[in-house]
Amino acid sequence: MNDKHDFSEFASLITAHDEGNAFDAVVPPIVQTSLFTFSDYDEMVATYRGEKQRPVYSRGLNPTVRIFEDMLARLEGAEDALGFGSGMATISSTVLTFVQPGDRIVAVRHVYPDAFRFFETILKRMRVEVTYVDGRDEDAVAAALPGAKLIYLESPTSWVMHAHDVGALAALARHHGVLSIIDNSWASPVFQRPLTLGVDLVLHSASKYLGGHSDVVAGVVAGPKALIDRIRNETLPYLGGKLSPFDAWLLIRGMRTLPVRMKAHEASALEIARRLQAHEQVETVCHPALANSLPPGLVGTSGLFSFIFKPGIDLKIFCNQLRYFKMGVSWGGHESLIVPGDVVAAQKAPPSFAEAFGVDPLSVRLHVGLEGTEALWSDLVAAISAATES
Ligand SMILES: Cc1ncc(COP(=O)(O)O)c(C=O)c1O
Repeated sequence: MNDKHDFSEFASLITAHDEGNAFDAVVPPIVQTSLFTFSDYDEMVATYRGEKQRPVYSRGLNPTVRIFEDMLARLEGAEDALGFGSGMATISSTVLTFVQPGDRIVAVRHVYPDAFRFFETILKRMRVEVTYVDGRDEDAVAAALPGAKLIYLESPTSWVMHAHDVGALAALARHHGVLSIIDNSWASPVFQRPLTLGVDLVLHSASKYLGGHSDVVAGVVAGPKALIDRIRNETLPYLGGKLSPFDAWLLIRGMRTLPVRMKAHEASALEIARRLQAHEQVETVCHPALANSLPPGLVGTSGLFSFIFKPGIDLKIFCNQLRYFKMGVSWGGHESLIVPGDVVAAQKAPPSFAEAFGVDPLSVRLHVGLEGTEALWSDLVAAISAATES
């Protein structure tokens, strides 16, 4: 993992294909079908009785989707994985599998805004209470856990990039008999494998680094087969947010280069974060690698971080001046992106993430893509200069 040029640990990403597949193709086919027919009555009966496992309908099992699920399970060190049509379908189906009306869950502060809104709307409607805690404060987490049904983690967190000691939080959850779930989209399994740190279930917005090319919206959850089976059988069939074969195929293609891309994002983003930290117009840079050390288990950093300007910057001029950094939500693709904090803070859609956790109006979130460090740095420096009030 430390050698920047050896990706042997991830060799299975390259070799993963549909074994026994037609024509010995290195790229698996897209099994673009809604249903699968039975050869005769006996096969159909055996399948319905659960005596035979085979695809029936693509909302359940599809061979192309299964290849993606197997790849991700191997990467995360999981027994099983389940693909979804979006990260939010993954989050909602996973959490809803394990809560009942009257339950309470714990979530870290600064959790991804739509996860927060899901907790504050649908869970609230189901009479499920949510206690938000600062994941850096293990005493506060320990105090919130007794009696909770599950703890929902995200590390590093959205916007402020707080990195938590995931292993310590998972151990606390286990001690209190609380199921732990983590959103690992930011680090990807290349830089953090939460199941090896004791977390029960790991999930991703596969729309981010797993896909890596901003051409797919998808999600996936991985963990022990018994827990994945509960999601597979209790919520996925009825909420119906299954990953499509074509999107799975795009993810299989994207994941072949995941380790290479992650290391390129890491190097470029860290260099830009360091230069921003030294820039006279910048107050603070929120990037986990700028702290003294990364928490145990986080072995690298991705391309997403934020920073806060000193007063005296015109964010509108700054954003409009950028050439390579495009204004846009999401991240994890090849392209560099920017989201200004004043726009997020002004968002009206209730419940407000900014009101709940605070978003500094002088902050900016960057996704550092693969355009090249010097091109991106020149872009930022020119835009800061144009936007600085003289
Ligand atoms: C950290 C994080 N988790 C989950 C999601 C939701 O994923 P999706 O957009 O694929 O539903 C996002 C999307 O931006 C995200 O940033």
